[in-house]
Amino acid sequence: MRISAVSKEINEWSGSVLIAGVLEGTIESQIGLFKTIIKDSFLSQRFNEAKFEGKNSQKLSIELIEGNIKKVVFVGLGKAETLRVDDLRKAVALVTRQVFSYERKLGIFFPWDVFDPSAAACAVGEAVQLSSIKDLRFKSESKESTPIDEVELIGLDYHATKLAIAEINPICEGVKFARELVSAPPNSLTPHQMANEAKKLATDYGLDLKILDKKKCEEQGMGAFLAVAKGSDLEPNFIHLKYSPKAAQNKVVLIGKGLTFDSGGYNLKVGASQIEKMKYDMGGSASVLGAARTIAELKPENVEVHFIVASCENMINGSALHPGDIIKASNGKTIEVNNTDAEGRLTLADALVYACKLKPDAIVDLATLTGACVIALGDEIAGLWTDNDTLSEQLTKAAGKAGEGIWRMPMQDSYKTGLRSSIADLQNTGPRPGGSITAALFLKEFVNSSIPWAHIDIAGTCWTEKDRDITPKGATGYGVRTLVNWVKELSLNKI
Ligand code: BES
Ligand code: MN
Ligand code: ZN
Repeated sequence: MRISAVSKEINEWSGSVLIAGVLEGTIESQIGLFKTIIKDSFLSQRFNEAKFEGKNSQKLSIELIEGNIKKVVFVGLGKAETLRVDDLRKAVALVTRQVFSYERKLGIFFPWDVFDPSAAACAVGEAVQLSSIKDLRFKSESKESTPIDEVELIGLDYHATKLAIAEINPICEGVKFARELVSAPPNSLTPHQMANEAKKLATDYGLDLKILDKKKCEEQGMGAFLAVAKGSDLEPNFIHLKYSPKAAQNKVVLIGKGLTFDSGGYNLKVGASQIEKMKYDMGGSASVLGAARTIAELKPENVEVHFIVASCENMINGSALHPGDIIKASNGKTIEVNNTDAEGRLTLADALVYACKLKPDAIVDLATLTGACVIALGDEIAGLWTDNDTLSEQLTKAAGKAGEGIWRMPMQDSYKTGLRSSIADLQNTGPRPGGSITAALFLKEFVNSSIPWAHIDIAGTCWTEKDRDITPKGATGYGVRTLVNWVKELSLNKI
């Protein structure tokens, strides 16, 4: 998809659909301008009849019979005072979703001057791309659609937005990649296949890659990760990708939970626990690999980034983990597994220990870790746990820029008593109340306290049951843009 800023007037533009963003209460003042494309002396009445006032999410579509434009879609942006870049994304997605499968060239005309031009260009470009993706990989006949291939941002300054626009495709490719990984069923995206995807990234973008097979993981003493993998016929794969520009001053590690399927193990997911959805339990690793792809393409300077995924399945067979087993993680801590369905934290425990050995300046993990986080924050907001205020601010800012919801949650140390085991160093689950907090506290046991670390629970945000904003129903790719924004910022500043 080609995206460009063009310094034209709207009446000089030609293409299939023109999307015109309208601020609330500004129709009167713009009617003269709109009449230069829609030559209708009753245009004001048409707005009136449709009750279109430019309120948020209002839409009015007008087909044109003559001229260079097929259709104009007016979309309300709400009041100027409350307008945010997010509203641009939403407005664009609302229209794009309706037209993308049969229109080729979009023109977008917004009150750009309200925004920083780069931020606006990037948001709008992302919105078109990310709301118009259809995953046809698993259909036997892929119906030929003619997707949008050109988008022009009308009236936006070309020079001021050139760099931002160049980043749109690499960013969207990363998100798309993450979504495809999440949507892929567990019989297709296995731990081995996940490693293959990492291999492809390494060869395509020149990243360093290390894959630890089961034997290598044993040598590392990764007893927690391996315990989860025991009940599956498929071998676990520990994936470590590295992006390293010359003379980087910052070094960070991104870790993603990589359960290609979570049956719950012997604490089987029964009833309403949605076992059939648990292909998305590798959402964290999908975002991390998606971010790897984008970062490798954008090549930010000054920051070395490691991407780590301990990938396996949580299944049941004769050698599976028993509820009650005691296992040992690679930092020597023993864990009584009082619930085999709290498996993500076991895999992350060894990943975190491994990450600390790299002596990074910061570690961030993303994980579909707890149903409790979904109950607390729903599907639009991820939970953020960290003891480090700077990291919290950085990540919150990065997510805000991406339009991805995030909310800092308490790392309530006193709740650690819930993880006490009478026989091992700790047990893997505490009481149900505050379940996502004890999950974060469990992870903290495996992080060297001198390394800034943040945990992001994306159990709610990695998937959506309905088309929402720039995300079609299904995998959202949540986290890719937040991580990329964070890394880009680190490329400019020392942590
Ligand atoms: N993968 C699940 C968490 C999850 C739940 C993700 C719903 C997405 C939607 C995780 O492995 C899990 O099963 N967590 C348990 C923990 C419990 C046993 C303490 C949960 O949240 O129920
Ligand atoms: Mn589970
Ligand atoms: Zn899980």
